[in-house]
Amino acid sequence: MADISQIVIFGASGDLTSRKLIPALLRNFAEQRFHKPLQIIGVSRSARSDVEWRESLDEWIPDDLRAAWSGFAPSLSWRAVDASVGEQTQGLADHLEALAEGRTANRLFYLALKPSLFAPTIRTLSSHGLLDGPKDPKLGWRRVVVEKPFGRDLPSARALNRELLEHVREDQLFRIDHYLGKETVQNILSFRFQNAIFEPLWNRKHIESVEISVCETVAMEGKRGAYYDSAGAIRDMVQNHVLQILALVAMEPPTSMAADAVRSEKVKVLTALRPMRPDQVAEHVVRGQYLASPVRDRGYLEEEGVDPASSTETFVAVRAQIDNWRWSGIPFLLRSGKALHKRYTEVVLRFRTPPLDLLAGPSEGEHCALRPNDLRLLIQPEEGVRLSFLVKRPGPGMTMVKSELGFDYSDLDAGSSPPAYQRLLLDAIEGNATLFIRGDEVEAAWAFVDSIRAGWDQEDVPMFGYEAGSHGPEEANNLFVGCEGTWSIGP
Ligand code: NDP
Ligand code: BG6
Repeated sequence: MADISQIVIFGASGDLTSRKLIPALLRNFAEQRFHKPLQIIGVSRSARSDVEWRESLDEWIPDDLRAAWSGFAPSLSWRAVDASVGEQTQGLADHLEALAEGRTANRLFYLALKPSLFAPTIRTLSSHGLLDGPKDPKLGWRRVVVEKPFGRDLPSARALNRELLEHVREDQLFRIDHYLGKETVQNILSFRFQNAIFEPLWNRKHIESVEISVCETVAMEGKRGAYYDSAGAIRDMVQNHVLQILALVAMEPPTSMAADAVRSEKVKVLTALRPMRPDQVAEHVVRGQYLASPVRDRGYLEEEGVDPASSTETFVAVRAQIDNWRWSGIPFLLRSGKALHKRYTEVVLRFRTPPLDLLAGPSEGEHCALRPNDLRLLIQPEEGVRLSFLVKRPGPGMTMVKSELGFDYSDLDAGSSPPAYQRLLLDAIEGNATLFIRGDEVEAAWAFVDSIRAGWDQEDVPMFGYEAGSHGPEEANNLFVGCEGTWSIGP
């Protein structure tokens, strides 16, 4: 068994490595979570010395980790390698062999590269024998983490899966979705399955609708325009983060928390999402682009890197249906957008109304207004749970007021939630794939998203404008039917 783990980060001069990966590794180191010493090898095409790389990271080190940084920095070394050029990978292979423990060390390759480099990089690593193991028990394990986006539609995701799996086994491949590393997202499963009181209500009999909102105030800050214009809200947020939250909210209880037990249940839900016919998309999906407004001097079409005639959506809202026993007929209202009024991610389960309003009489309007119970899972930035109900206002008559029970993570004496990448990197090193996406999961999510995109491509579906800093297009409210309510405006 190896005593050292090597982490080889491809794309180590990039934004993700500097801003997220190194601080996350450092925090794990500072909290003494690694059972073995690490050697971290940064790779990109640019030449630099080990010291230069360490110095370039200095500005990203949080103040509370300064003391740990001096102990951690010596484990970082640099190699200039073009991941798509085979001969250069031989140099990397020789370098890794020459490090302490050589081939017997455990190795994690992290591909913080643009997606078009995922397959060529894994192919070259494989052809240089760097992904072998553990055929010989004396060899360490070999694992690969790949970033998002994983494909841009179902055919490309399938092709990528096929290609990668020619070189690595599924259990060596860790497809990341950083939302699964958030404590509050993990809490969805704990909350559901460690409390006996909620699960009996968690179905179509008691729940009338489920809303999942991932709202952002950010727009195209930095140099994001060009990437975003090729993706849009549905590819960038819904296919991965929103559908992952949906899977956790809607899945059946797994038989254990083992990676495959959890992921198999998520796949079942994702494959039960009813694909839309192109002619249904305009009715069940609303898309929009933000416009200049008093809070932002540019609309989406004026952003750097964005095609001025772009038809890429910066907001999408979907009324989805899950065709299974638990959820048949219950709308899942999904929403994500940029340049909105407030940043918040929230799941709202709206419970059915009482069958009769004994106090006010069963008139239609009042019946709709009587919506006493919803359960809110606050994912970010506020982290907590809220359960609302009606109580009688003290005094004569029977006036009801809405009240709620609440829990806030900040009340726990556990410090702030660790950053998502901290947990996910540790899990990848420990070989726990529960919070990573399996190949069939990613494909099931694309199948649903592709059905919406086909409607946009084939039918005349409007693109609504919304003012930056607003709640998104008004038309998104039309996805709620009858007494179902309206979109949450956040905690
Ligand atoms: P950047 O553009 O900032 O960095 C890309 C890195 O790849 C650079 O280090 C670049 O260095 C290196 N690189 C490019 N071509 C090669 C090559 N042929 N061989 C070796 N290295 C190469 O990207 P990000 O860090 O922002 O993103 C990386 C990945 O992470 C992407 O897939 C992105 O979608 C994903 N991601 C990023 C997030 C973020 O917050 N940044 C969030 C979620 C996902 P050089 O030019 O020196 O080779
Ligand atoms: C990324 C998307 O995956 O998630 C970004 O590409 C988005 O567009 C980001 O802003 C949101 O992540 P978080 O953790 O800030 O909610």
